[in-house]
Amino acid sequence: MDKRPIGVFDSGLGGLTAVRQLMEQLPGEDIIFFGDTSRVPYGTRSQETILKYSRQDINFLMQFDIKAIVIACNTADTAAGAIVQREYDLPICGALRPAASVAARTTKNNRIGVIGTSATIRAGGYEAIIRELRPEAQVKSVACPLLVPLVENHRYQRGDRAVEIITGEYLEPLRDWGCDTLVLGCTHYPLLWDVISAYMGPDVTLINSGREAARALAGTLREADLLSGRDGGGVCRYYVSDAPEGFVEMASLFLQRPVEHQVEQIDIERY
Ligand code: DGL
Repeated sequence: MDKRPIGVFDSGLGGLTAVRQLMEQLPGEDIIFFGDTSRVPYGTRSQETILKYSRQDINFLMQFDIKAIVIACNTADTAAGAIVQREYDLPICGALRPAASVAARTTKNNRIGVIGTSATIRAGGYEAIIRELRPEAQVKSVACPLLVPLVENHRYQRGDRAVEIITGEYLEPLRDWGCDTLVLGCTHYPLLWDVISAYMGPDVTLINSGREAARALAGTLREADLLSGRDGGGVCRYYVSDAPEGFVEMASLFLQRPVEHQVEQIDIERY
């Protein structure tokens, strides 16, 4: 048993969709969340920059004597996950492999769609893992660079014309192609769940990569006997790299519950 907190980071607030899953799946765990709100989005940046940012995010979290890390950002996991797993001496779980594995198990017609940021799609990580796990499956990936800024600006609800038009434009080739499984390969996209599922229709199974990252971490902690041993009462502390105004309101939307603790701003360039 281990009562130390779990560290979670994302480029912005999207990773809170993974925190929400962690709170549901592991209610007795304490969490330290860092959202790099001054440098979001990562998805339009180079691999070297995303790796540098990810190392700084991890170095910040390491100060808290954490027992494990969740990279609640597909973009950071794609660019840096395998490298930081070798560099740091604690379990680090990302979203990519867990979500790709669920997609490979779920499809019936062997057509899997993946949506994500430009950096995630360019790197082709989802295709590679899905092909390794299910060679007969076909994967079609679409970069959706405008979705993260829309979500970060509170524009994600059904009936929002801009969101519906832009989402429809990105998803049209996947719907026409007939995928039966769609990986939401960015932790911001669960906020767009209703818009995406309405567009894709009831026969397409959506995979929430944040949820799968949380499940993977729960499995890792269980196997390594690192769970806190408590059934509830876990607290989450929040840190961001830009002014925290508006964070509480936004975070409660992502978490679907009130934010109970103060949010603090830190200077990420120091790490
Ligand atoms: N939430 C991040 C992800 O899962 C991406 C956001 C960004 O571009 O920074 O990919």
